Amino acid sequence: ARLVVLVSGSGTNLQALLDASADEAYGARVVAVGADRDGIEGLARAERAGAPSFVERLPDHESRDAWDRALAARIAEHRPDLVVCAGFMKILGAPTLTAFTVVNTHPALLPSFPGAHGVRDALAYGVRVTGCTVMLADAGVDTGPIVAQEAVPVLDGDDEETLHERIKTVERNLLVETVGRMAREGWTVTGRTVRLGRSGG
Ligand code: GRF
Repeated sequence: ARLVVLVSGSGTNLQALLDASADEAYGARVVAVGADRDGIEGLARAERAGAPSFVERLPDHESRDAWDRALAARIAEHRPDLVVCAGFMKILGAPTLTAFTVVNTHPALLPSFPGAHGVRDALAYGVRVTGCTVMLADAGVDTGPIVAQEAVPVLDGDDEETLHERIKTVERNLLVETVGRMAREGWTVTGRTVRLGRSGG
């Protein structure tokens, strides 16, 4: 399966997908990396892996819809079977969501703590268990159908950074495993239920 991965930051989730796709048996490979900003480590990781990359910055476009359409067109150039948001900090609009299946990952157990500060919000709430979620992207903020989740404990003395690092260790593996299964087994979506399996795709 052909993956286009969208990033906005350090790209450690992207790196995990790049590393996994080095193995033919994984069943998927990163054919391009897209970003909404320049100068991020995620783009350097794409460069080092020899993966084509592109950047579509919102301020370069006369409207949000123009940016959405430009992004969808750049993604389409690479003919993806699956688009993966891996720390992509923009909400995708209809041009992308209607053209591709988009998988996203979030460092909390949705529906708890959606949005850009899920780790900070969980810590502030005082939960003892948080985790990460792999879901399909829809027009909302982290509201799409859930594909996989894994719990991560909050330890005494955790701050946002230590907790996010512990979550990301689990999240990278969950994302790689889930995307690999979707690529190899296919998937179907019925309402809010995502089933992996041959009849999918
Ligand atoms: C990940 O935890 C992702 O879920 C969240 O931001 C982090 C991105 O990390 N949205 P990286 O850029 O993949 O290292």
